[in-house]
Amino acid sequence: MEIAAQLTEKPMEELLRLLNEIRDTETRGGLLLALVAELAPTEEIHHKMAKHAVDEVRHGWMFTQLIRQLGGHVEKPSGPLYFDYIIAGRPDFWTALFNRDLPELTMPDVWEIMIAANEIECAAENLFSGFRAYFRDNDKASAMFREIYFDEEFHLRWVERELEIAEQAGNGQELARIRERYKDAVNGETPPDAN
Ligand SMILES: [Fe+2]
Ligand SMILES: [Fe+2]
Repeated sequence: MEIAAQLTEKPMEELLRLLNEIRDTETRGGLLLALVAELAPTEEIHHKMAKHAVDEVRHGWMFTQLIRQLGGHVEKPSGPLYFDYIIAGRPDFWTALFNRDLPELTMPDVWEIMIAANEIECAAENLFSGFRAYFRDNDKASAMFREIYFDEEFHLRWVERELEIAEQAGNGQELARIRERYKDAVNGETPPDAN
């Protein structure tokens, strides 16, 4: 069954729970990318990560507004969420990043963050297109999903381009090792770390 049709069958309470999960992922993703921007190894990555971070936090806020428009309120989602699966890919690294214990980021660190972020963005894409169809008669929500869709396309393109450049510069093996850590992350095959 198509995602939009599945959403139609869900009670509002369940839809609000899903929207809250997305809101949380967008906001936390934005906060994480803002930390990455601060520690970026080049000026160009610093600027692009900062813009990416701002977009994700803005998306989180847009979901907050939609949740309120639907009569819901912001709630902390009960895990495990996309983020928990990503963290399980390399817990020491992500914990140090969140705790601001990393003095700087290397290019392989940046590729790791990009690969993990892409996993989340790709997994979210299906759900987003389902919500876009579900809300097609709601002008405000439609405009919101259109805007988010264009931003996300832009994010995927710049990240994929950066990874392509890294690959062409001879970092294929390193990238393959990183991808291996996250390949099953978001479909739930890697259990989140209990800590
Ligand atoms: Fe986003
Ligand atoms: Fe994004």
